[in-house]
Amino acid sequence: MKLIAGNSNETLAKAIAEHLDTPLAQAEVKRFKDNEIFVEIQENVRGEDVFFIQSTSYPANDHLMELLIGIDALRRASARRITAVIPYYGYGRQDRKVGGRTPISAKLVANLITTAGADRVLTLELHAGQIQGFFDIPTDNLFSTPVLERDIRETCRDVQKLMIVSPDVGGVVRARALANRLGADLAIVDKRRPTVGESEVMHIIGDVEDRECILVDDIVDSGGTLCNAAEALLEKGANSVSAYITHGVLSNGAAKRIDASKLKEIVVTNSIDPLTRPEKCKKLRVVTVAALIGEAISRIANEQSVSSLFE
Ligand code: R5P
Repeated sequence: MKLIAGNSNETLAKAIAEHLDTPLAQAEVKRFKDNEIFVEIQENVRGEDVFFIQSTSYPANDHLMELLIGIDALRRASARRITAVIPYYGYGRQDRKVGGRTPISAKLVANLITTAGADRVLTLELHAGQIQGFFDIPTDNLFSTPVLERDIRETCRDVQKLMIVSPDVGGVVRARALANRLGADLAIVDKRRPTVGESEVMHIIGDVEDRECILVDDIVDSGGTLCNAAEALLEKGANSVSAYITHGVLSNGAAKRIDASKLKEIVVTNSIDPLTRPEKCKKLRVVTVAALIGEAISRIANEQSVSSLFE
């Protein structure tokens, strides 16, 4: 097995390598003066089972191109099998036409990765499970639930009062899975997006009075969804509101908004490198998915079940 890291999340790639007790293979990503990307794999990969680790996070287009060019280099170097390990699948939110004459970019990106030469994809908490079907190659979509569950059990002071909350109707399946594992109740926020990038809370479904609420979502981007939901839950009598999110996109302004909000804490995984975020958020804590992804890589390499990781 060979592990290769792109530039998007070297810290996570190193932690995965450590978990697998396998060093990262030598590779270099260079740029020409006009910003074109050039990838050179600096060791022999002929006949190898190669895992290329790259989140397509900010700057999404550069990291996506690095992934595509890296896969192309590996294919031309006669790797036996290439697995694109994409802890954060950027463009995943564009999974349907939102109006006339608009793209389905999540499908386009899937086509690009396949055409570049990937044989398999390993990813984490896709925005919608159906995106797996955008790939015509085997795709394993891991869930961050076990990692989040462990952290909640270790840090929650009053599990009896716990209420898992989905910040929108689209996230109910994800939130319910975590609530079931914890034996906790579930509430749902009825969210509306009046314009792109803005969110508004319409109703809360469920009684959150005197409860320790935990919002669960796949992505925090502007932070608007979480901050609005926290306010609405506290207005309905919740004791406290924290958030557990898989992908901390946290674009400009998010850190400030979260720090100024009524959220007690926000926990994200390291699917996106916390060090690359433009601003620091005081309420942010990071949990690692290195062991989860490392274990999945090991199982793929050894032709073992990946889904049994979640049973
Ligand atoms: C949307 O459906 C996603 O699951 C997230 O709720 C959304 O991307 C969060 O965005 P923001 O932090 O900008 O409100």
